[in-house]
Amino acid sequence: MFNVAVLGYGTVGSGVVKVINDNNQVLKKFSGEEINVKYVLDLRDFPGDPVEKILVHDYEAILADDDVKCVVEVMGGVEPANKFVRQAIEKGKSVCTSNKELVARYGAEILQLAKDNNVAFLFEASVGGGIPVIRSINESLTADNFDSIAGILNGTTNYMLTKMSNEDLTFDEVLKDAQDKGYAERNPEADVEGYDACRKIAILTSLICGQQVDFEDISTEGITGITKQDIYYSKKLGLPIKLLGLMKKENDKVYAMVAPFMLENDHCLRNVDGVYNAVSLHGDMLGDVMLYGQGAGSLPTASAVVSDVVEIAKNNSKNIPIKWAKEKVALGDITTFKA
Ligand code: HSE
Repeated sequence: MFNVAVLGYGTVGSGVVKVINDNNQVLKKFSGEEINVKYVLDLRDFPGDPVEKILVHDYEAILADDDVKCVVEVMGGVEPANKFVRQAIEKGKSVCTSNKELVARYGAEILQLAKDNNVAFLFEASVGGGIPVIRSINESLTADNFDSIAGILNGTTNYMLTKMSNEDLTFDEVLKDAQDKGYAERNPEADVEGYDACRKIAILTSLICGQQVDFEDISTEGITGITKQDIYYSKKLGLPIKLLGLMKKENDKVYAMVAPFMLENDHCLRNVDGVYNAVSLHGDMLGDVMLYGQGAGSLPTASAVVSDVVEIAKNNSKNIPIKWAKEKVALGDITTFKA
């Protein structure tokens, strides 16, 4: 039995419990042993929900239990998630997380801590929701030098832009709809101002470079400036507006940015609609490769989180190396290159 504790019973946490319970036999096939949710940590009570039986309010109970091999952090926000993740690692527990704020800010440090304690730190769900983009970069696409990434990395804004284009709805109406569907961040400013996409392109660029890319250094513009008139002209011209996260390497310089773009007929991301995300990478040997799938929502995100749990169980909770050094990449000035 491989026991895990889930920190946070919100949209993603409840999805994680469901995926582990409903797909237990599938997980066992890949992990080699049964995966069991021993605890769920949340400040709230959930009367009538079967989770009550395993619900705890005190993190110490989880830390003190040596049977818990893996902590699943799906609380979101930097603190106390950061403290909880480090405490778990120092207690010899592996950790997986969907928390892009945490990973973008402290990914390199936490990976080093995990290495020092010979446990794993995985974060598949931190970028692209259900799309296996992190594992693809770290484990599959390992024969190439990647010189560009273009991604639709935020499901909420893509859903909003699609709906604003297809239906005559206001910004606030479509935002409310995205929130009701569980796509948006607790503070939806992170989605609409592009901060969420910025953290995600920072994580991908850090992994591609093997070094820290600070998200604060990335020029970021969201979709709050997109008006009904912009949507009208984009439809008239047949050029859909998409919020893109971009990375490009040129003449030994690395550039990264987030901004809305009108996409031409031949752009590979122009038909990615709704809550779907897509990441297109260009490698010097492979050429173009694109990953596509649901970028937000309870079960797609939980599926990615649980794939990390399976990976950790398969590796007996030992360290899984990921190259992401603390040394900082100095980004080039985006005004000097054409996206
Ligand atoms: N709010 C995020 C999004 C959730 O809409 O993409 C997934 O990271």
